Amino acid sequence: MQKILSAKNLQYTYESGKSRTEALKGVDLSVEDGEIFGFIGPNGAGKTTAIKLLLGILTPEKGELTLFGQSPREPKTRQKVGYMPEIANYYKYLTPVELLKIYGNIFGINKDLLRERVGKLLELVGLENEANRLMRTFSKGMMQKVSFAQALINDPDLLILDEPMGGLDPFSRMKMREVIQDLKLKGKTIFFSSHELSEVELVSDRIGILCKGHLLATGTVNDLLGDKKAGQSLENYFLNIIGEKI
Ligand SMILES: Nc1ncnc2c1ncn2[C@@H]1O[C@H](COP(=O)(O)OP(=O)(O)O)[C@@H](O)[C@H]1O
Ligand SMILES: [Mg+2]
Repeated sequence: MQKILSAKNLQYTYESGKSRTEALKGVDLSVEDGEIFGFIGPNGAGKTTAIKLLLGILTPEKGELTLFGQSPREPKTRQKVGYMPEIANYYKYLTPVELLKIYGNIFGINKDLLRERVGKLLELVGLENEANRLMRTFSKGMMQKVSFAQALINDPDLLILDEPMGGLDPFSRMKMREVIQDLKLKGKTIFFSSHELSEVELVSDRIGILCKGHLLATGTVNDLLGDKKAGQSLENYFLNIIGEKI
């Protein structure tokens, strides 16, 4: 299978004045075509930093990184990637329709296709009745939904979602899980971060566990837990493995 994402020995340190934070200390990642990869780790593990490297927003201090076999900064690569940031920090004096059109224009999508796609995406995330309301009046969960729609505006082959379920109610979480699974059926590859194990376990083909800038384990949930009859839950496994690091 084709590697959609490949990272070797990724390292990144934040420096400001005298303070240094080694956020990633040599992380290897590989995601195959059509996979749902769940990237889990406690707060501060380095998930968002890794995602910003994958997107070319930050430049790795060391290591090699390719998406679709190319640099993440290649315009051609960017056309194929959708990104949902951890915090939906959009200009709030816009409506969802206006925001999605701005993003669609950035990707050069033609007017008719864009109008159709915006309508479909707002329906997909359940915001069709709020399509023309100012986002100033939206809850956190509603902003997450707009953000998810934004990540899909270019019909990306690779979707990178940073804590996509944060702020969503259980019903909306279930809906988002369904959408993610449908996207997989359409051949899309999904890389998403979360600190909520149950979400990751339900939807991922493979998971990677990050803690303090180290990737502690990767594999399918079954690979990691071994014989499920032994009664080990992903939560116990996770707590044990990160416990050794903390
Ligand atoms: N802009 C920044 N400046 C300095 N340190 C940062 C910055 N962003 C993140 N960090 C630090 O890097 C580490 C990893 O953070 P992050 O990648 O946001 O983790 P996660 O997304 O897993 O919660 C944390 O120790 C965090 O405090
Ligand atoms: Mg984060």
